[in-house]
Amino acid sequence: MLNPRLYKNARVYDFFIKSLGYERSIDRFLRSLDLQLAGPIRIMDAGCGTGLLGLHFLMRYPGATLTATDLQANFLLTTLANARNRDIDENRIEVGVADISHPGRLTTLDQQTRTLQQGSFDIICVGAVVGYAESTEQSLRELIRLLAPGGTLINLEMNESPTGRFISKRYHYSNIALSKMQQILLEEGCSVCMKRLSLVHLPAKFTRVAIIAHKPAAT
Ligand SMILES: C[S@@+](CC[C@H](N)C(=O)[O-])C[C@H]1O[C@@H](n2cnc3c(N)ncnc32)[C@H](O)[C@@H]1O
Repeated sequence: MLNPRLYKNARVYDFFIKSLGYERSIDRFLRSLDLQLAGPIRIMDAGCGTGLLGLHFLMRYPGATLTATDLQANFLLTTLANARNRDIDENRIEVGVADISHPGRLTTLDQQTRTLQQGSFDIICVGAVVGYAESTEQSLRELIRLLAPGGTLINLEMNESPTGRFISKRYHYSNIALSKMQQILLEEGCSVCMKRLSLVHLPAKFTRVAIIAHKPAAT
């Protein structure tokens, strides 16, 4: 569960990840991923924080739209502010409060609740968030259900290095083993690969690893 004292100030969090070069290194890593996508791509960034993952894909795919969710509305507002800073049309973004325990249940900022349709996203990105779910396993399975056939889940997860473990502990982030995570995604019928970040992805390399799952296309 999230300790409310953590991530209290989204603007401060945003300031630090930018000034430490964290956002840029994640961006560099995401750019290195070869994703064969075209057309009106639908993206979800669950537990979006300041939106660095979802906004990367909006910049990369001009026809794409983004659903960005977080437990805390202040992060959604920071995500929208970051979109404006990147000259991204806000009409391409829908934001909503959602608990990663049930990523498909969303409450908009004007308090409308709705359920996201299963199979509706071509890219789902998450980063350092499924460990906050009541059940990481359940959360992952629900995320895969939200993925369209042929879609890709990109999880920029906390890694299992001493630094990754230290930061996870500091942020009360208790996750299942990465091998277990891969097993769950395989059980959901996905092909899965784990990509370690390299030196050019410092400082993100210190704490993150990517688990990428492809859902098979419909036959
Ligand atoms: C470490 S930040 C990660 C932000 C971003 N995804 C990234 O990769 O850098 C964790 C984010 O998860 C959000 N969060 C924490 N618990 C959550 C929950 N139960 N459901 C959804 N979001 C949650 C926090 O508000 C914060 O924005």
